[in-house]
Amino acid sequence: WGIDGHLTICRIAQSRLSETAATAVKNLLPASAEGDLGSKCSWADNVKFRYRWSSALHYIDTPDNLCTYQYTRDCKDENGVKDRCVAGAINNYTSQLLTYGSAASQYNLTQALLFLSHFIGDIHQPLHVGFTSDKGGNTIDVKWYTTKTVLHHTWDSNIIETSEERSYDSSPDGLIDAIQKNITAEWADQVPMWEKCSRNLTTCPDIYASESIKAACDWSYKGVSENSVLGDDYFQSRLPIVTLRLAQGGVRLAATLNRIFG
Ligand code: ADE
Ligand code: ZN
Ligand code: ZN
Repeated sequence: WGIDGHLTICRIAQSRLSETAATAVKNLLPASAEGDLGSKCSWADNVKFRYRWSSALHYIDTPDNLCTYQYTRDCKDENGVKDRCVAGAINNYTSQLLTYGSAASQYNLTQALLFLSHFIGDIHQPLHVGFTSDKGGNTIDVKWYTTKTVLHHTWDSNIIETSEERSYDSSPDGLIDAIQKNITAEWADQVPMWEKCSRNLTTCPDIYASESIKAACDWSYKGVSENSVLGDDYFQSRLPIVTLRLAQGGVRLAATLNRIFG
């Protein structure tokens, strides 16, 4: 996701934290965040080049056209090093954060919190669990209305920004409000299922990744080819998927942090 997608997920999450989790998050955030997790949720994108090892941790490449994800098969980087993908990163930073409060944790838990918050967002972007040959839609040229871009960027940013421009005064606040209302109304009965992790795990990235590649096949890639023009039909049919994935990302980041910090 772009800045507004990550901001949305982290604002939703922070509003759903238990008292103990909210306190731990406030203690771990850098002073410059002024207590606002949303303000730091794109930090991991800003350090992709400074920490070159982290750039493979934002996504998963799955076999072309299979539309399934398997951890042991797919969670590796371009050199085949296993566990180096967004699902492996979520597991790693979750286990680092579980050392919070124990005498001398050897980890930088501020960075762990910012990475985890960003990666739980990214794993909900369908094309962050995309096909290998097109790098999750990064090599598919399209037009967003009349603007030249790539399919991946339409899902990271264009759909969200067009929604903000048309319905919310070009600001993320209205979109965040609308998603929060949906979470407590239309989606209220599904939220406990979103929060649930099978086998009493702390977080469930394999579930989130499997949902993403299915949505990528059913909605992101569907009907799109090189140089497709994406306009009103695509925007109106895909916006509900984007808002659902932002909602699930926020709810699950909060559920994960609540389980980590007890
Ligand atoms: N680079 C390679 N595959 C990618 C993906 N699915 N998403 C983002 N960046 C990528
Ligand atoms: Zn992206
Ligand atoms: Zn990212």
